[in-house]
Amino acid sequence: MIGVIGATGMTGRALVAALKAKGSDFRCLVRDTAKAADTLGSDVELVQADLADAASIEAGLQGCDKLFLLSGHSPVMVEQQLNAVNAAKTTGVNHIVKLSGGSFIIKEDTPALIGRGHWQIEQEIRASGLDWTFLRPGFFMQNFLNMAEAIKGMGKVMMPVPADVGLGMIDVRDTADAAAGVLTSEGHAGQVYELSGPNVTPAEAVAAIGNAIGKEIAFIPVPMEGAIGAMKERGMPDWLVDHQSTLMGIAADGNMATYGNDLIEKLAGHAPRTPADFARDNAGAFTA
Ligand SMILES: NC(=O)c1ccc[n+]([C@@H]2O[C@H](COP(=O)([O-])OP(=O)(O)OC[C@H]3O[C@@H](n4cnc5c(N)ncnc54)[C@H](OP(=O)(O)O)[C@@H]3O)[C@@H](O)[C@H]2O)c1
Repeated sequence: MIGVIGATGMTGRALVAALKAKGSDFRCLVRDTAKAADTLGSDVELVQADLADAASIEAGLQGCDKLFLLSGHSPVMVEQQLNAVNAAKTTGVNHIVKLSGGSFIIKEDTPALIGRGHWQIEQEIRASGLDWTFLRPGFFMQNFLNMAEAIKGMGKVMMPVPADVGLGMIDVRDTADAAAGVLTSEGHAGQVYELSGPNVTPAEAVAAIGNAIGKEIAFIPVPMEGAIGAMKERGMPDWLVDHQSTLMGIAADGNMATYGNDLIEKLAGHAPRTPADFARDNAGAFTA
């Protein structure tokens, strides 16, 4: 039995679809079971559990031998995910598959807050005595969904990165398919899997969205100060503004390029989805 934490999020929803397609035995530990049933379908086994409540995670993991661990960006990510690691140790879980950050931020001293957090959690999992596999995806194509309002309203995307910088992008469905592969086959213990397709530039990704919706969308590189001001204006908390601007700085310097491997093909069993695939399948989000 696979315990899934993070099932209702972007990657998690795709993982649930992939595990359903494989006919796998899995249970989702979710904060709100009624909302999760609406999102994931009434055929999915659900148990109420919150990463902030260690006992609920321990109860939810009873009978599970594998754990898929993901939670969104949060300043309490470390303590919450460590609750799950500790719960795994005291239940029958023998293998944790953690959705981590990109390798470019998994460092003890990275200025990216979430990167330091993922690094710390990875260290604790390595020391847990359990088997582990770390998935380190590149830049999510789904990040463009956060820019849907600007695309719909102004026909443009503004980011503090050069239009022609190569980014190792990935569709979250490919991360999910790879995760499903790892969770349902053997030979992945002790592996760090760096997942991305070939390089895509921001200009190419935005052009793909424009093609999918039949409208020209401009990509406009903006200074970092402007991007920070815009995030603050939207009410983003300081820790998240710091994190996002650090990430964009890493991307702008060309340090978020493709990993240049064929792991998606090997683990997911298919070629990486392209920006055209992403844009076609999400076109509805970019039209009024
Ligand atoms: N964006 C990128 O380009 C990128 C690149 C590489 C790695 N990453 C990593 O990807 C991860 C985010 O993935 P995502 O975008 O698929 O996530 P997401 O859509 O933000 O979903 C987060 C999930 O975590 C669950 N969750 C949050 N707090 C919880 C709690 N206290 N107890 C139980 N469940 C909780 C949420 O459940 P609810 O429905 O209850 O809220 C939701 O299912 C982050 O760790 C990030 O560092 C992102």
